[in-house]
Amino acid sequence: MPPTVFILDFGAQYSQLIARRTRELGVYCELVPFDVTWSSLAERNPAAIILSGGPESTLVSGAPDLDPAILTSGLPVLGICYGMQLMARHTGAELVKLDHAEYGPAMLHVDRADSPLVAELSPESRVWMSHGDSVVKLGAGFEAIASTARCNVAAMGNREKNLYGVQFHPEVVHTDEGTKLLGNFLYHVAGLKNDWKMESYVDRAIEEIRAQVGSDRVICALSGGVDSAVAATLVARAIGEQLTCVFVDHGLLRKGEAESVVAAFRDVLHLNLIAVDAKERFLGKLAGVEDPERKRIIIGHEFISVFEEEAAKIPGVKYLVQGTLYPDVIESKTPQSKAGHKIKSHHNVGGLPEKMNFKLIEPLRALFKDEVRNLGRVLGLPEHIVQRQPFPGPGLAVRIIGDITEDRLDIVRDADAIVRDEIDNAKGLQPHPWQYFAVLTPVRSVGVMGDGRTYANLVAVRAITSEDGMTADWARLPHELLERISTRIVNEVRGVNRVAYDITSKPPATVEWE
Ligand code: XMP
Repeated sequence: MPPTVFILDFGAQYSQLIARRTRELGVYCELVPFDVTWSSLAERNPAAIILSGGPESTLVSGAPDLDPAILTSGLPVLGICYGMQLMARHTGAELVKLDHAEYGPAMLHVDRADSPLVAELSPESRVWMSHGDSVVKLGAGFEAIASTARCNVAAMGNREKNLYGVQFHPEVVHTDEGTKLLGNFLYHVAGLKNDWKMESYVDRAIEEIRAQVGSDRVICALSGGVDSAVAATLVARAIGEQLTCVFVDHGLLRKGEAESVVAAFRDVLHLNLIAVDAKERFLGKLAGVEDPERKRIIIGHEFISVFEEEAAKIPGVKYLVQGTLYPDVIESKTPQSKAGHKIKSHHNVGGLPEKMNFKLIEPLRALFKDEVRNLGRVLGLPEHIVQRQPFPGPGLAVRIIGDITEDRLDIVRDADAIVRDEIDNAKGLQPHPWQYFAVLTPVRSVGVMGDGRTYANLVAVRAITSEDGMTADWARLPHELLERISTRIVNEVRGVNRVAYDITSKPPATVEWE
């Protein structure tokens, strides 16, 4: 096992971002539950510890705590936000609850420029704050390294013991020099090297998959999206012929998609592929269902039963591969902590029957979308698969608001094909939207076409920019492009007489409408 940075997850929404930044800095890391014991970490070649933020207050009784032996282990520790406050509590500092919590941007002023944590940071830079408690008196051996107007101890450190804390979030993009600060901790404080690459991830994943699977057979859920493609290819690298991929056409795919999935995976990538036409089965179960959560749960259940049936035909299948990504995990439930609010049941995480007969292999569970694309390139996947935009597991079901019928599927499919065609062919979009699609709303409105009155469907167009799907902004598409999309949809898609453009960011909205 390489020297590893362990990130204790106290349930902050962005804990995994710390892992991602650490990987970007070329250092191997793993996210572990906050209550992991020092003795179990000690066996795993730990090089440094990072304590994540979290939604709780350390001042409340029963707040999540860490094994104190971690702080006295002699390893360098960086506490972030809640993590810093915990470190403060354990080292004799004094904390108070603020009258008004501090959220959002603040200017960080470096007070101890000679501290290795802030080496080469600008004397003043923007940081992102999100805290309700504050350290007002430091523990013995600690110095205040930086401050903001509202927070005297925005960064603290004990040089002798290599314990450091920051009240702000260095992992988020709104902290201008956050990556630099994290790099200072990893390289200068912990003495780690920038030598971890995606290739190392592949080697490790292959080893782990082989060890986990042994000589058993594995089945993989191929959806056509980049995640399952990369997951399947990675697993095929590890265990070759022991893997069978099952592609379920649930009838909720985009135009032409089912055919292109089969062509790419069977004919180009030569994976063992079984294609199942389950359209009628899914549409039958979904008939009359309007509630988004029920749709997701029905689709999730049906998926698993189809897999179980297919797997039953192949002797000795014990495992199911899924291309679950970190944002899917975090938004369905906080992974290793007890905190967190459920937003949607992602079909590849939630909604699974209690008694599933498969064990799961989720080799992408720690990764963000753009990391998965890199991994796909490292594995040699063709660019058109690697660049494919994200598509939700429940497919067009969550882009048809209300009842799902063949007719309504045709409408959303045709509109979606136009949105994709126009945006794919638009030159020089900066940045190119991350995801773009059409949504069929249940709204009908009056229009006039030729000389006649129409009373027809409203289609919404959504195009977003994003880094990882966890937050998103609506894409500022040129008006001429929007005009082409709107004109073509109204002219070419039967039953649509009005097009709206969704100008909501995430949060407060989500990317998909359901
Ligand atoms: P939301 O709508 O939750 O979407 O803001 C965030 C990203 O996740 C995709 N998405 C899904 N992906 N299974 C998936 O694999 C799902 O059930 C699912 N639902 C949403 C969505 O397209 C966006 O990229």
